[in-house]
Amino acid sequence: MKELESFSRLPLGVLPTPLYKLENLSRELGKNLYIKRDDMTGTGLGGNKIRKLEYLLADARDKGADTVLTAGGPQSNHAALTAACAARLGMRAILVLKKRGNLTGGNVILDHVFGADVRFVDTDSYRDVYAEMERIMEDLRREGHVPYFIPVGGSVALGCLGYVGCAREIASQAEALGVSFDAVVSATGSGGTYSGLTLGAKLFMPGTRSIGIGVCDDPFEEISLRLMRETAALLECEVPIDREDVRIYYQIGPGYAKSSPEGREAVYRLARAEGILVDPVYTGKALAGLFELERQGNADLAHAENILFLHTGGAGALFAVDL
Ligand SMILES: Cc1ncc(COP(=O)(O)O)c(C=O)c1O
Repeated sequence: MKELESFSRLPLGVLPTPLYKLENLSRELGKNLYIKRDDMTGTGLGGNKIRKLEYLLADARDKGADTVLTAGGPQSNHAALTAACAARLGMRAILVLKKRGNLTGGNVILDHVFGADVRFVDTDSYRDVYAEMERIMEDLRREGHVPYFIPVGGSVALGCLGYVGCAREIASQAEALGVSFDAVVSATGSGGTYSGLTLGAKLFMPGTRSIGIGVCDDPFEEISLRLMRETAALLECEVPIDREDVRIYYQIGPGYAKSSPEGREAVYRLARAEGILVDPVYTGKALAGLFELERQGNADLAHAENILFLHTGGAGALFAVDL
């Protein structure tokens, strides 16, 4: 297997992020619940995308890119963090966003604060967004620029390496704390975080089951299998990956990027028990999913004594979604 260190990586994050026990919620649940604070990755408002962008933007730089393009919804945390990282690297960021959902406040403000060039496309389909990005990249190339394309969420094998690295980081923090995690739970929006983390868990924490909570109705079982296999191939690692490794549950509520009563309740519960903020549409729904699996006595968590919740950020959208 290739070492993670053999890939180009820009140190955009402040790592390792903290990992500690949530004492009050643990008492409530009757289990040891820990949190990994990837909302504190240190650039912009923090969040999971920083770990992916460390590899993706290193690749962009290696290829001589001066402009980075990515896509998302108007409140995309990924787009805002891409803008923040590009600003830090002196690159231009062009964010091509679907004109659906809340076009004001939250991350839309931050995109401008970070100096991004924001273009809205009036569509429901990423096919139209990607076609527009192709067109913009053609123009840029004609003008002598070198554009670099990052798909929605940065969920390609190279981006997933960030969460293979996160799993390795968790394994070493767990060892230092003298704890072994039975399960790690994370939000799944485009699949990269979960896929990297699940592959990383197989490699560095084989006793830890990785559970994803899907916040939209994409088929994450297939997406994750594909991304895990592509990431393993990139790492040239032989580890077998099969359907059994992928544990996905869903917490969508009224729809992607829309708040749900369960997600809102999780926001309040964590804030009032631990003084930590999650957002209502990603991390709040993921935490709601964890609570729901606990309540149901779901087999994936029933025997878990030590559970880790991966906080993937989302603070920007907290101020743009109805709570
Ligand atoms: C705050 C937050 N958490 C989790 C996710 C999901 O991560 P991924 O897109 O890698 O599945 C996203 C983005 O989609 C996000 O913005």
